[in-house]
Amino acid sequence: MTLQLRVYVPPHPLIKHWLTVARDAATPSVLFRSAMVELGRWLTYEAAREWLPTQETTVETPLDSAPATVIDTQVPVAVVPILRAGLVLLEGAQTLLPLASIYHLGLVRDEETLQPLCYLNKLPEKFDPQTRVLITDPMLATGGSMMAAMAELTQRGVDPALTRIVCVVAAPPALQKLSAAYPGLIIYTATIDEQVNDDGFIVPGLGDAGDRTYGT
Ligand code: PRP
Repeated sequence: MTLQLRVYVPPHPLIKHWLTVARDAATPSVLFRSAMVELGRWLTYEAAREWLPTQETTVETPLDSAPATVIDTQVPVAVVPILRAGLVLLEGAQTLLPLASIYHLGLVRDEETLQPLCYLNKLPEKFDPQTRVLITDPMLATGGSMMAAMAELTQRGVDPALTRIVCVVAAPPALQKLSAAYPGLIIYTATIDEQVNDDGFIVPGLGDAGDRTYGT
């Protein structure tokens, strides 16, 4: 699979561990939710490298002044969780990005056609073009939902090069579609699985992330 966009699968023991917990069919809903929160946290930690804007300054220590770096709070940072399942990744992401604005986007796939339907859109009319945007959604399967989310964002002024996607399981159809449309995009995922079955489920995947998160 040749891709123009960059996909990172951080080789981190905590990410591997919580992915295993999430994949296990025997994991109960309450633990599945914890696993997803942790994955949201650690994948966001990785995604924040070279993405969160910083500013150089100096700091006075008790002994001397020292060169220092702080987060540049003048640059807007936004998180866009794709409902429902992206909400649980947001929980982990928010612990690291407490000042980020949260813009909810509700998308659900039609079970027959697998086409995404938008039922909630809390995006602003226009984003500042410098806005750093982090999209959370655990599954990139056919890619229809993320393509719809990216279309909504870019038509409101979001720069794909300043956008990061945090997901848990990514599959080739989604990666290929996103790469063709947004070659500057960067994705952080716990794993890349090879297949999407006829029902639109990633195999081996982790099942229906929304249903397992909310016990439905
Ligand atoms: C799942 C998942 C993604 C989408 C991925 O959501 O959370 O949003 O499907 O599939 P795609 O890449 O083929 O579009 P779902 O529609 O099941 O809604 P939910 O999060 O409310 O369960």
